Amino acid sequence: MPGTTESEVVSQPRLRVSGVCDRLADAARWNKPPCKSVANNMTCRFLLIGGSLRNDSTNAAVLRTVEALAPDSVTCVLYDGVGRIPPFNPDDDHDPLPSAVAELRDLVHRSDAIVFSTPEYAGALPGSLKNLLEWLIGDDKQGSIYEKPVAWVNASPRGAALAHESLRTVLAYAKAKVIEAACLDVPVTAAALGEDGLVSDPGTRDQLRQVAQTLSALACSSQMA
Ligand code: FNR
Repeated sequence: MPGTTESEVVSQPRLRVSGVCDRLADAARWNKPPCKSVANNMTCRFLLIGGSLRNDSTNAAVLRTVEALAPDSVTCVLYDGVGRIPPFNPDDDHDPLPSAVAELRDLVHRSDAIVFSTPEYAGALPGSLKNLLEWLIGDDKQGSIYEKPVAWVNASPRGAALAHESLRTVLAYAKAKVIEAACLDVPVTAAALGEDGLVSDPGTRDQLRQVAQTLSALACSSQMA
């Protein structure tokens, strides 16, 4: 696991934790070494970042569904702090960092891969997500977004091509490693969500399951060596 420095952030009660750790989950566990997959002795952590701040966000629902369908060997953290990240200011990019930024960077360090799902606003990435990414680019610690495996699910029924073009541009600037085989375009509308708030269509669920499987196979394979 890259970047396993102890977190300054002791508890992260707003985070949702699932996967193989779910049975044992509590916030303090994030300050302990990764738990192990029963099946293959491999642990993989995904950080799931949505670009919408809406309560009923379909992009958040997509990420919750990825979380629900991820293999047992994967632990997911659904990040919900996008709205708490302050506007990027290079003058503030030093220790002590703003607490929300320190928390975010720590989560990135502890993740093996990041999955994004974002809407398009005004022909580009939502400003809040771009702002979050700007804070990640300045991180020179081990486990930063530099060469971090990343993928996205584009759930927009209207294509959101410009948002994903700008997401790709920013991720390239950050030198993140886009795992193309794990990126998915699949339109999801609010009507496609079940009462549990997850994507209900079996075909779409299969595709989202495949995203998690592919990403864990490609992003976490080094841990199998
Ligand atoms: C949008 N939406 C939008 N859609 C799109 O395809 N291209 C665009 O440029 C925009 N711009 C835009 C601006 C504003 C102000 C709003 C409110 C909406 C639509 C938006 O991307 C769509 O509703 C998403 O499905 C919202 O995602 P969540 O919040 O459901 O995850």
